[in-house]
Amino acid sequence: MGPMKGHASAPGKIILCGEHAVVYGRPAIALPLSGIRAHASVTAGAAGLGIRFDAPDLRRRWLLSAAPNDPLSALALTTLRRLEAVEMPDIQITVTSDIPIASGLGSGAAIATAIVRALAAVFGRDLSAAEVSALVYESEQRYHGTPSGIDNTVIAYEQAIWFQRRSEPPHLIEPLSIAAPFTLLIGDTGVRSATRLPVGEVRRRWQNDPARYEALFDQVADVVHQARRALAEGDVAALGPLLIRNQNLLEQIGVSSPELERLVAAARRAGAAGAKLSGGGWGGVMIALVDPETITPVRTALLEAGATQVLETIVSASA
Ligand code: MEV
Repeated sequence: MGPMKGHASAPGKIILCGEHAVVYGRPAIALPLSGIRAHASVTAGAAGLGIRFDAPDLRRRWLLSAAPNDPLSALALTTLRRLEAVEMPDIQITVTSDIPIASGLGSGAAIATAIVRALAAVFGRDLSAAEVSALVYESEQRYHGTPSGIDNTVIAYEQAIWFQRRSEPPHLIEPLSIAAPFTLLIGDTGVRSATRLPVGEVRRRWQNDPARYEALFDQVADVVHQARRALAEGDVAALGPLLIRNQNLLEQIGVSSPELERLVAAARRAGAAGAKLSGGGWGGVMIALVDPETITPVRTALLEAGATQVLETIVSASA
């Protein structure tokens, strides 16, 4: 084993379209946010103490041996097994993140990805994106029972993806073809919402009325297929109405909120070509499609409508 040092980072993410329906086998499109990241640093720790976690952003510090069932402890143990570590290393893992938590931007999966990669670096191993993604998926399952796997995938691969869950892995993961760049503003409602809550509520509703929800998920899938075509053809103008339709379907699925709808309406009034919530919903963030003329008025409108912060991401064309 090399020196007990390692550092790794992982991006946040946004779902462009298809959230929730993706849990039920429909496709979705996700984009990495390379500019906002989670970091994990491994340094030598006190002899005999094993792994100590320090997460100043979460105001948490703990010894793995004292909290082995904590999801991040469990992730470290699974990763060590995967790395075939023969004994528990004495290390400190410091976790920091620029990604707002419980906001739909994938902070949990990004933190987990950074930890897996930093531990792999300590053991001089280079895990593939697929291996990292599988380890993080296990960890996501501890946080919320039935994740589709899209968050860990887009974050581990760090590229725009088309994702469709199959009943058995491997799931369908394809790099997305984007013919023309476009810009999204990300408005944060400031309302924190753990993904497992809306995901659990959608499951209850689907169980009570499967026909209605299957039909809604099929309509979401239709939007996502059309969005893929628009992106491949560089038809950014077609994307706006698709985002609006997806928001409408998410409202019917029951995962929107007054705060999200206030920001979506403000963005549209200020000229955004389309806007929708992104991620789990009930809080967290929304996205708005803007161009050079609308970017400033939309940003201002979002802040005036109560956004606690507005981020910008330019989605570049892919080869
Ligand atoms: C969360 O980013 C996306 C959801 O579809 C949940 C999931 O896919 O696991 C809401």
